[in-house]
Amino acid sequence: MNLHDPETGRFAIAIDGPAASGKSTLARELAKRLGLVMVNSGAMYRAVTWKTLQENLQPEDSPKVVTLLRKMNITCGSDGIESTIAIDGQLLNEELRSEKVNANVSTIAAIPEVREKLVGLQRDYLQHSSLIMEGRDIGSVVFPDTPFKIYVTAAENIRAARRVKIGEIDAIAKRDAADSARATAPLIVPEGAVILDTSDHTIESGLSAALDILKQQGLAL
Ligand code: DC
Repeated sequence: MNLHDPETGRFAIAIDGPAASGKSTLARELAKRLGLVMVNSGAMYRAVTWKTLQENLQPEDSPKVVTLLRKMNITCGSDGIESTIAIDGQLLNEELRSEKVNANVSTIAAIPEVREKLVGLQRDYLQHSSLIMEGRDIGSVVFPDTPFKIYVTAAENIRAARRVKIGEIDAIAKRDAADSARATAPLIVPEGAVILDTSDHTIESGLSAALDILKQQGLAL
């Protein structure tokens, strides 16, 4: 049985890892294969960053960011396949991948009040269905009790090349250093997670390796 929540029988698969490690691609492929919703938790931190920049606030000015956070209306949903996010009624997509958001999201993600609010919204997803969630602290903080945890990584030069390939400007080494060094919920290999290095994997072979890991962890496939 895939029990995570004993009351509902729902479960969460936690996919963590650094930037451009291939975790979103893997989570998306797994979700398709397993018929689960894929929740992109990074998009939530990006959305708060986008709003902060829209309001011309300095991301380092955490008291002002927290005041804004308390006022904003964050709506997390799903299109049946992937999570969606809207702030104050505006559905956000492409704007979340801008260079400015990339450059400031780690500062916003280090604010404890931001994390507390978004972790609550992330856990709420489990009220609706089983899911796959990808991020930095899913197996360590959001769903620490799930038995299904994969930590996805890849060599830094390969990760940087992946960003260049999609035409995105993103200082991933700087972002990873900030995400790993922050005091609250830093990027770590969660207890019980199996590490999957995607450096030499194709999408298909990475998916197959991930399915093997989940089977070992007890997922009934
Ligand atoms: O997965 P991503 O690159 O879109 O995430 C953007 C940033 O959000 C990442 O640099 C750190 C932060 N983040 C986080 O702190 N915790 C998560 N669970 C997901 C993302």
